[in-house]
Amino acid sequence: MTAEALVLGGGGQLGRELARTPPPAGWTVRAVPRADVDITDRAAIERLLDESPQVRAIINAAAYTAVDRAESDREAAFAVNATAPGMLAAACAARDLPLVHVSTDYVFDGESERPWREDDPIAPLGVYGESKAAGEEAVRRACERHVIVRTSWVFGVLGANFVRTMLRLAGERPSLTVVDDQTGCPTWTGNLARVLLEIARQAEAGDPARFGTFHYADEGPVTWCGFARAIFERAGRLGVPVPEVRPIATTDYPTPARRPRYSVLSTEKIENSYGIVRGRWSDGLDRSIAELLEQRER
Ligand SMILES: NC(=O)c1ccc[n+]([C@@H]2O[C@H](COP(=O)([O-])OP(=O)(O)OC[C@H]3O[C@@H](n4cnc5c(N)ncnc54)[C@H](OP(=O)(O)O)[C@@H]3O)[C@@H](O)[C@H]2O)c1
Repeated sequence: MTAEALVLGGGGQLGRELARTPPPAGWTVRAVPRADVDITDRAAIERLLDESPQVRAIINAAAYTAVDRAESDREAAFAVNATAPGMLAAACAARDLPLVHVSTDYVFDGESERPWREDDPIAPLGVYGESKAAGEEAVRRACERHVIVRTSWVFGVLGANFVRTMLRLAGERPSLTVVDDQTGCPTWTGNLARVLLEIARQAEAGDPARFGTFHYADEGPVTWCGFARAIFERAGRLGVPVPEVRPIATTDYPTPARRPRYSVLSTEKIENSYGIVRGRWSDGLDRSIAELLEQRER
């Protein structure tokens, strides 16, 4: 029987990318959207796992991801990002299934001069980061066979993200101001999905030394402003009218949630433990923009 990687949160940008990414040999992927299984519903999770003997690994891509809304919606953010992953982890442990759980750079406060390592102290700046940090802890406690993968600045063609927002604004405005004092590594869903599926495969094989917390982000630190310029440079080459981009400071763009100043994640551990080769966000951006513009023309 082929092994199945079961993806929860299958309707999100990462979940949908996982569903269309070629899995490792001998594996299939099934992505289950929220409409089919709500991860806060313990009975639904138990039922799904009991009815799925072919499942060999779970990937949790479900999350409450509205960073600013979370500031005034703490209970909902914690229900999805903290309590539910703990429940899911317990259900996995009871069936001896490995759980690959996706987390975020926002567990850190951004006050660093070097890439964040997995064992650096966490200090989230907002409710979203706090809830994701609590989810990590709940997963660690409930399921020994866990792989927590923190990632950053995720973009692709299948959901709401910075690239899609910039492309929309390109057609609407002659100039834009973009924050230039927050630095991170954009991560293409295509690269992240490939990495998560490979991790699920290796985690299922069961080497306990490989369980724990890891970082994955694509190569190349950049500010939001630099990222916007990279987006418009590509879109311009493909004939989209592009706005002038002017850098601003975070203080000039107040938001309900504070964001880390420096979010670059060190990926040495995942490269060494899992033999992961990092992708470049610039390649993912080329592909995403081409695909998004092609969709527009249809
Ligand atoms: N996006 C980023 O920049 C970023 C950065 C770092 C880490 N991450 C992490 O990456 C992971 C994937 O995020 P994403 O970018 O794919 O976000 P996304 O597009 O918002 O996807 C999250 C998905 O989870 C679903 N969901 C919410 N509550 C649920 C519930 N109770 N049961 C089942 N599904 C539920 C959402 O459904 P609805 O749409 O119906 O609510 C949505 O389809 C998350 O763990 C996130 O924290 C994301």
